[in-house]
Amino acid sequence: MKNKDELLKAIRDEVLDAKNSPLYAERKKNKVFPVIGEGDCNSKIMFIGEAPGRKEAESGRPFCGASGKVLDKLLNHIGMNRKDVYITNLVKDRPPENRDPSSEDIDFYAPFLDRQIEIIQPKIIATLGRISMRYIMEKFNLLPKFDTIGKIHGSVFEVKSSYSIVKIVPLFHPATAIYNASKMPLLQKDFELLSIRNNE
Ligand code: URA
Repeated sequence: MKNKDELLKAIRDEVLDAKNSPLYAERKKNKVFPVIGEGDCNSKIMFIGEAPGRKEAESGRPFCGASGKVLDKLLNHIGMNRKDVYITNLVKDRPPENRDPSSEDIDFYAPFLDRQIEIIQPKIIATLGRISMRYIMEKFNLLPKFDTIGKIHGSVFEVKSSYSIVKIVPLFHPATAIYNASKMPLLQKDFELLSIRNNE
């Protein structure tokens, strides 16, 4: 049986070769890379962002730009760093002009995320921002509990997955604190809760 690294590498290879992706031509035109994910594939916590930004597409690494600096600070706030968790995005290539991912983009890339979840088997899935929140809540039949991120950030929804009970925790996107620094304490509070749930 293949180990987690081999299974994740297979996803990387498939995405790299995904000429049928709605964002493949854009990737080639800009000479950038898809962003698959990084961190500890045995971690209990998986963070799911929206899609790579410019810096991420240039380097092939998730959250390595301004939002990533905020994410690092939030992890440090709870005594963790990015090596302790697994970080990925719903959409693996950068949408042009930083537009929101289209439903076509999401339909194309979500099956890769679904496979990453099955391989990593996180006990906590923390979504970063409203787009991955919506996808994950829909995937785990949580739409009856769905609301704006302003209302349900920091909530914990327990669901049954194919491998165990999983806690779904919707969080604000780290970029929220770039646009509005006064939100940082709120983001820190949500991360403290994540830390408590991780130690349960
Ligand atoms: N925003 C995201 O949602 N993901 C990244 O990787 C970077 C910025």
